[in-house]
Amino acid sequence: MGRVEKIILLLSGSMRAGSSNEAVLRTAAAAAPPGVRAVRYDGLAGLPHFNPDDDGDAPPAPVARLRAAIAGADALLVCTPEYAGTLPGSFKNLLDWTVGGTEICDKPAAWVNAAAPGRGAGAAATLRTVLGYTGAAIVEDAVAAIPVGRDAVGADGLIADPGVRRRIAGVLAALAAAA
Ligand SMILES: Cc1cc2nc3c(=O)[nH]c(=O)nc-3n(C[C@H](O)[C@H](O)[C@H](O)COP(=O)(O)O)c2cc1C
Repeated sequence: MGRVEKIILLLSGSMRAGSSNEAVLRTAAAAAPPGVRAVRYDGLAGLPHFNPDDDGDAPPAPVARLRAAIAGADALLVCTPEYAGTLPGSFKNLLDWTVGGTEICDKPAAWVNAAAPGRGAGAAATLRTVLGYTGAAIVEDAVAAIPVGRDAVGADGLIADPGVRRRIAGVLAALAAAA
């Protein structure tokens, strides 16, 4: 019998304590709709700099963990800030480690742009390009702009606004439907 529950791996592009993007993903993990388990990847800061020489059958342990997390997920949801008009270098580094593997190939993927209205478009455009190189299947119905200001994040690190929570749950449902 197949697994009924869909696993969505949540990838944050921010390492900042109090990150709005991380708050979106923490909220996603807490507000996932029935049949969806949303799991946060927390290894961004521990990844080595990408080096093709190390990208063989036995990659560094943090890279192997990243690839295993991706391989074990039915879909991917990214939430990343924009730095200087594009993706944070650390998150591009994470994606670089996935280009050589086949884990992302054909995997449903989407992102939430949590920046203020009209901002973050450069990061989203780069993400679309880079995910294209990884072979991800971008789920357009699940790509969303859900602005989250810093004051929207509670002391518990979650977003309480019911409208935002509904939209995040909707993103997860759309991704799960495509997975
Ligand atoms: C060095 C730096 C560069 C930034 N560049 C941009 C930018 O080009 N476009 C943008 O919309 N926001 C930019 N921002 C704002 C961040 O994207 C914003 O603070 C975001 O909330 C950070 O994400 P986080 O809260 O998840 O850490 C920049 C912030 C920093 C620190």
